[in-house]
This record gives sequence, C-alpha cells and structure tokens, in this order.
Amino acid sequence: MSLKGRDIVSIRDLSREEIDEILAAARRMIPYAEGTRSSGSLSGRIVVLAFFEPSTRTRLSFDAAAQRLGGRSLTIADASESSLRKGESLNDTIRMLAHYGDAIVLRHPNEGAARLAAMVSDRPVLNAGDGAGQHPTQTLVDLATIRESFGTLAGLRIVLLGDLRHGRTVHSLARALAIYGSAIRTVSPPGLSLPPEVAEQVVELGGEIQEEASLAKAVRDADVLYVTRLQKERFLDPAEYAQVAGSYRVDAAALQGARDRLVVMHPLPRTGEIAPELDATPRAAYFRQAFLAVPVRMALLGLVLNGKVP
Ligand code: NCD
Repeated sequence: MSLKGRDIVSIRDLSREEIDEILAAARRMIPYAEGTRSSGSLSGRIVVLAFFEPSTRTRLSFDAAAQRLGGRSLTIADASESSLRKGESLNDTIRMLAHYGDAIVLRHPNEGAARLAAMVSDRPVLNAGDGAGQHPTQTLVDLATIRESFGTLAGLRIVLLGDLRHGRTVHSLARALAIYGSAIRTVSPPGLSLPPEVAEQVVELGGEIQEEASLAKAVRDADVLYVTRLQKERFLDPAEYAQVAGSYRVDAAALQGARDRLVVMHPLPRTGEIAPELDATPRAAYFRQAFLAVPVRMALLGLVLNGKVP
C-alpha cells in the first residue's frame, strides 16, 4: 500500500515493509539533507508545523526537510501565540490548518491529540509527539541510526534507560523494535518503568522484554544503549520528580563492561544523563541521530505528499 496521503499517528500504523521502505528512502535522501544534491520535489507544497509544546530538533528538522526539497512551511511554535489560548478547540484549529497546508505535523501535550486531529483533518497528520503517548517519526530516526550503525535491525540487543513511563519516544521505539525481533532490556528509576500495555504489545509483536535493575549488567552484551531524560514536565507531583532527579548518569565508567560495538543513543535534549566525556568517543551516536532526523523526515514528507522521493 502506498504511503501517499497516510496519517502517521502511531508506529503501529506502519507495517514492517513500510518502515523498511521509509528507511531505504531516508538513506537516499542523505545527500539532499547534507545539501550536496538538490531537489524541488516538494515545490508548491506547504507543510504546517503545529507545535503546542516546546521543540527544537523535531520542528526544525521537519522544516529543514521541507525547505531542502523546495517546499514551504507554516509554523505555530508556541501554544501561547495561537488561538488555542483563546479557548479554540483542537478540532477547530486542525480543521482550519488542513485548509492552509498539504500536511500537518502536530505536537501536542495531550495523549491522543494526533489521533483526534487525523480524524478531523482531510490532509495527512504526522504525530510529532502527543503528551506521554507516542513519537513515531522519532522512532524512524532511531531505527535509521541503528541500521546505519549495524547494517540491520534484526536480532539486536537494546537497552532502554530512563523515564520509560512518560517517555513517548521509547513507547514507539519499543513497539518498532519488537517487529524486528529485538531483545529489549529496560532499566529505570523506581516508578518509571515502561507502561504494562507497551510491554505487553512488545511480546505480542514477537519481541522479548526484560526489566533489569543493574545498568552494568544490562549493557554487558548489548548493542545499543538508548538513554532518555526524566520527563520533568509530565510529573504531576514535584516531590516525586525530586526523588528521582539525577538518579542515573551514563559515563565511561558505567560502560566499562560493555562490548566495543555498543553505541549510545539519545533523542535529545539531554539534561545530564549522558556525560559529555562520551561525546568524542565512537560510542556516541546521538549527534548523528539528530542529523538523520532530516533525511528521515524528507523521506516521510516525500512519501506522504508525493508517494515517492527524488
Ligand atoms: C523527545 C520528545 O519530545 O519526546 N525529543 C525529541 O523529539 N527529540 C525527547 C524528550 O523531550 O525527552
């Protein structure tokens, strides 16, 4: 089935074949993302970037992707500058935005907002993060990074570390990894483990998942350590956040027992959970991951708007 006109709300909206197709297209888009090749394939197209929560990488990489392919963007970068603040419903906002552009990229603090938007909009909606729900386009970036590092997505051992309860990137990533038959280990502070429904889906999809108390033990035979920050803004009780703040940090010592091939990933922004001493080591994949956001989002926009990439 073509991806043209499709909504991407959950990573489960995509089959393994479709994910493979997007990743293959993303690889071809790398020179365009670097600016060494150019294309006007999105010329005349407008992508609406509707961001009702803070974002740097996601919004700007979508914007760069659209512009490098000759498209344009309209941006809401701050909920306080839009009419939602005046009490407009999301429903009305989306209906209107669907008349102003050819696709809507939505980030919203409420879980389920992107699904609602997709129901209302007759233009494709791409979920750029819905509260503590999902973040499927980040997952495609993550998968592209893993594939570039190892040449495959199948049969890898991946450790997910951090605030797995509120972190939407890991909610999408765990499901996707399961489709490729990965063995997932989770390590998280007390009370912040992966929601049971996500863990259950991983097993249903053919993945293997196991909670691990010790990071040192979890990384010993791992290929990827995927680190996330505490999602401070999602804690309802500041005292609960204070209890876990600073409770994990990955540095060279923490990775001493790991295999040479282990890479460290992070969707960014980091807030102290990865020591800068790792930045210059071959293990650090997080800045490459941030770059790959551009070719992956070029591939997504090309496939969703045109059914193809240059
Ligand atoms: C993530 C997000 O917004 O969920 N950031 C991103 O899109 N790269 C991760 C985070 O904010 O911790």
